[in-house]
Amino acid sequence: MCGIVATIGSREAAPLLLQGLQRLEYRGYDSAGLATVTPGQLHCCKAEGKLVHLREKLEKTPVSGCCGIGHTRWATHGKPDARNAHPQLDEAGSVAVVQNGIIENHRHLRQHLEQRGVHFGSDTDTEVIPHLVAQALADLRGTVSPTDLLRLAVAQAVQQLEGAYALAVIWLDQPEELVAVRYRAPLLVGLGEGQFFCASDTPALAGVASSIVSLEDGEMARLTPLGVELFDQSGQRTQRTPHPLRGDDYTTDKRQFRHFMLKEIHEQADVAAAWVERCLALPAEDSLTTVLQDVQRVQLLACGTSRHAALVGAHLFEQLAGIPSSVHYASEFRYAPPPLLPRTLTIGVTQSGETADTLAALTIEMERHRALEPDVPLRLLGITNRSDSSLGRLVPHILDIRAGVEIGVAATKTFLGQMLAFYAIALHLASQRHGASAQVTACRQALAQLPEQLSQVLHAMDRRCADLAHGFAETRDVIYLGRGINYPIALEGALKLKEISYIHAEGYPAGEMKHGPIALLDQHVPVVSIAMPGPVFEKVLSNAQEAKARDAHLIGIGPVCADTEIFDVVLPIPPVHELVSPLLTVVPMQLLAYHVAAHRGLDVDQPRNLAKSVTVE
Ligand code: M6R
Repeated sequence: MCGIVATIGSREAAPLLLQGLQRLEYRGYDSAGLATVTPGQLHCCKAEGKLVHLREKLEKTPVSGCCGIGHTRWATHGKPDARNAHPQLDEAGSVAVVQNGIIENHRHLRQHLEQRGVHFGSDTDTEVIPHLVAQALADLRGTVSPTDLLRLAVAQAVQQLEGAYALAVIWLDQPEELVAVRYRAPLLVGLGEGQFFCASDTPALAGVASSIVSLEDGEMARLTPLGVELFDQSGQRTQRTPHPLRGDDYTTDKRQFRHFMLKEIHEQADVAAAWVERCLALPAEDSLTTVLQDVQRVQLLACGTSRHAALVGAHLFEQLAGIPSSVHYASEFRYAPPPLLPRTLTIGVTQSGETADTLAALTIEMERHRALEPDVPLRLLGITNRSDSSLGRLVPHILDIRAGVEIGVAATKTFLGQMLAFYAIALHLASQRHGASAQVTACRQALAQLPEQLSQVLHAMDRRCADLAHGFAETRDVIYLGRGINYPIALEGALKLKEISYIHAEGYPAGEMKHGPIALLDQHVPVVSIAMPGPVFEKVLSNAQEAKARDAHLIGIGPVCADTEIFDVVLPIPPVHELVSPLLTVVPMQLLAYHVAAHRGLDVDQPRNLAKSVTVE
């Protein structure tokens, strides 16, 4: 949520900040701004809406300076307009601050500052920070050396903050210095040639920094044109070895595709190919064997699409490995965790590794696991696409899905990667418990065919879904049905459509239709039904019949089969073992959502009100 970029060095800051913000725009895009400082002047420029508006403003009124901070916002406090955009300034316009996160005690601080005569210019929680820094600067001036002044003033200000934040500060009186602090929100320092950076995520640093240091909670960085100094919470200097940053790991190129989302959907065959080898080799991943030992039950914590992957995972754990499993909304779990039983494995699933609710739920579980089983290694596993994230630092074992950078806000290839991670774990657990059962062998064989089948489905389905999307021009509601292991795919299909096309959509287990949702059906409500052969195939077809009898337009996702006369349209899937089928049935769901939104002329990669990583509660 929100992206921060800051730089200092020998080059003009504004172009570097804009480039970094462009790469962080997936983190929030309702307003943007930047500030630079030159001797005697602090320049600030902000604009409502996407980054392009800030760019246009800066073309008309350029700002200069080799030290600056930038921000792209996802509004939490105050409307998404230029007034509430960051940077936020103190009253004198001499301190500028960008912040990512939430200042939970901002009301109290604001009241206190107002009582001291401070006037606020925005509705943001962030604005308390420049005022606090300005007051601390006034208090400290003359008592400490000028080179320590800004750092100590920021330290004094952040001592008063409660919440989770990453921030960067510049000050008119020290145009050759910038200070950044991390506390429970990601912040990296990037080291380039004669240029130093801070950013909330790695893509902003790709190509400009050759190495990075990830700040720890409570840590502060002081950046000058000469280099970077780190300080711990008590103000002591710390040293850390930077990690090299390979720019090509974070390339953000659409190739021949119109949108990142479409490119990422098509990349799924490659994600699968890489995973299939891992699925078969997983027991060799050492740290995983330790965490999977003696597991008797599994609880899965996640949000959104990651939760849908977790539902597929739970089904596999129960049906393949015979291990009772429960899936929780991380946001609910953190306030009402069920009793924890011995030998429970807790898995947190988050593609970004930064989702605040998931991290908070896992933090609770870490304590509870330690208290319950103090003498065994923590049974805590994270599944993520970003092993360098906060999740990577929080949990002792990480399964990196290695799906490559995903820029589209709607998760697609990372969803497939998460599901594949669950196949790998479930197969490992199943083999551990029951040896090579017929079901395990069948699943392994089916997985081996997956990359080729995915390529076929992607190729065949793209055009068909594009054609089908024309029929959705006036659609207001869509129902998605699935059963068993394909029920989570119905949920995911509905979520994808909602997120990017703004059409109301709901996913249901097909058998639940007649218990209420069927009342919604008429000829204006398309029903997308996943019908893969398996124990509930006939039931799914009967459920589809019930919808057809209410005049619903029926789209079937399944093999071309004798019963296709039920469906008005069939999006065919190759015959495949039912337990493996979600890895294929999800593709038409994603492509249909994509084409419906693209056909409506919507901004598929940056849908309204959303952000790629949700770092606030
Ligand atoms: O980064 P996470 O996987 O933890 O994100 C969880 C949800 O915010 C995310 O899946 C959201 O639902 C996406 N926009 C899905 O497309």
